[in-house]
Amino acid sequence: MPGIIHIVGARPNFIKAAPVVAALGAAGAQQQLVHTGQHYDRRMSEIFFEELGLPEPDLNLGVGSGSHGTQTAALLVAMEGTFTEAAPDRVVVYGDVNSTLAAALTCAKLGIPIAHVEAGLRSFDDTMPEEINRRVTDILSDPLYVTAPEGEQNLAREGISGDRVVFVGNPMIDTLVAHLDRFDPAPVQARLGLEPPYAVATLHRPANVDTAEAATALVGGLREATARLPLVLPLHPRGQARLESAGLGDVPDLHVVEPLGYIDFLSLVRGAAVVITDSGGIQEETTALDVPCLTLRPNTERPITLTAGTNRLVTPGSLGDALDGALAGAQKRIGDGPPGWDGHAGERIAAHLLSLPMAPPALGDA
Ligand code: UD1
Ligand code: UDP
Repeated sequence: MPGIIHIVGARPNFIKAAPVVAALGAAGAQQQLVHTGQHYDRRMSEIFFEELGLPEPDLNLGVGSGSHGTQTAALLVAMEGTFTEAAPDRVVVYGDVNSTLAAALTCAKLGIPIAHVEAGLRSFDDTMPEEINRRVTDILSDPLYVTAPEGEQNLAREGISGDRVVFVGNPMIDTLVAHLDRFDPAPVQARLGLEPPYAVATLHRPANVDTAEAATALVGGLREATARLPLVLPLHPRGQARLESAGLGDVPDLHVVEPLGYIDFLSLVRGAAVVITDSGGIQEETTALDVPCLTLRPNTERPITLTAGTNRLVTPGSLGDALDGALAGAQKRIGDGPPGWDGHAGERIAAHLLSLPMAPPALGDA
């Protein structure tokens, strides 16, 4: 009897799942970790298991890359077989990636209860694949573990409330808190030949890197940035070809490097004057570390990072002015940070999961 199965597939999933898996492990729970194989390069996957002390996955479905239809279909087929055979009591899914959506859909059809960690976030932008994944996953899941107060409001607006919605705080910040002592900027700065002040950037959203036009605008924005301070860009594989064709290699003072491991990356961020990103998770991590963040997106599903004072939405065209403001100290955190971002979300999730009935109710039960 496998008890709980965790589904992880992409880089941010590993970071969110680590504290939940650890807390359930400490409680002696029966659990398995299934990697879908959505991310597979060592620097997008294996390195996080090693650095975060995640157990080796019990199974890797090896679905790999593809269009949304191809990838989601491969996930559905692989997971239907896996869940039918394993018959878990409950499946835990994380965040908003295609692996999350596919697991929720598969379980719903098989009658397996689904718990969603990071429920209720909304960008209200249906052009983002993640927004579709969030909404569908939330409809199908119970319980819904909410990481920021606005999540409860968003779900209530969609008619979802009551016992199904549980505010737990942010497990991504648990991982940050657990490894804070390891975030020493000096060694990674030395290795990359960087001296403070410098900026760190990450870019991978389809709206920014999937067309030549967007990539050209972005490279223009990065040029504005490096006119002010050196910039290191650990480049996600998604954007590489388009950004390079748009002239990334010709931007002075831009250090393009491979995706970094978690410890190196957050060490660099901790020592950065400013971060430029379109990542979801990095908006939260910069809030926790009180590092100014400029988010190259028209919206965010994490508005708490804006009200916290650390984050600001920008366009490639407004990036230069925004950088001047951030470097002059305009984006300091107000207060101690969002509620429940305290390093104990994983324990709260584990305790709640273990309070739930572990087998689906038999037919005829209330
Ligand atoms: C996915 C998530 C996104 C999340 C991001 C985290 C979806 C719809 N999107 O986007 O929400 O922010 O992960 O990083 O699930 N590739 C490699 N090596 C890898 C993985 C991917 O080279 O290990 C390349 C492939 O060319 C692939 C492309 O990156 O086609 C995109 O990968 P995919 O997992 O489909 O989407 P992401 O852009 O990574
Ligand atoms: N991250 C990392 N190395 C990198 C870039 C990001 O370890 O080179 C970490 C980052 O600290 C955060 C997570 O990856 O914990 C965010 O993943 P990503 O930006 O790919 O996805 P999103 O959060 O946008 O879904």
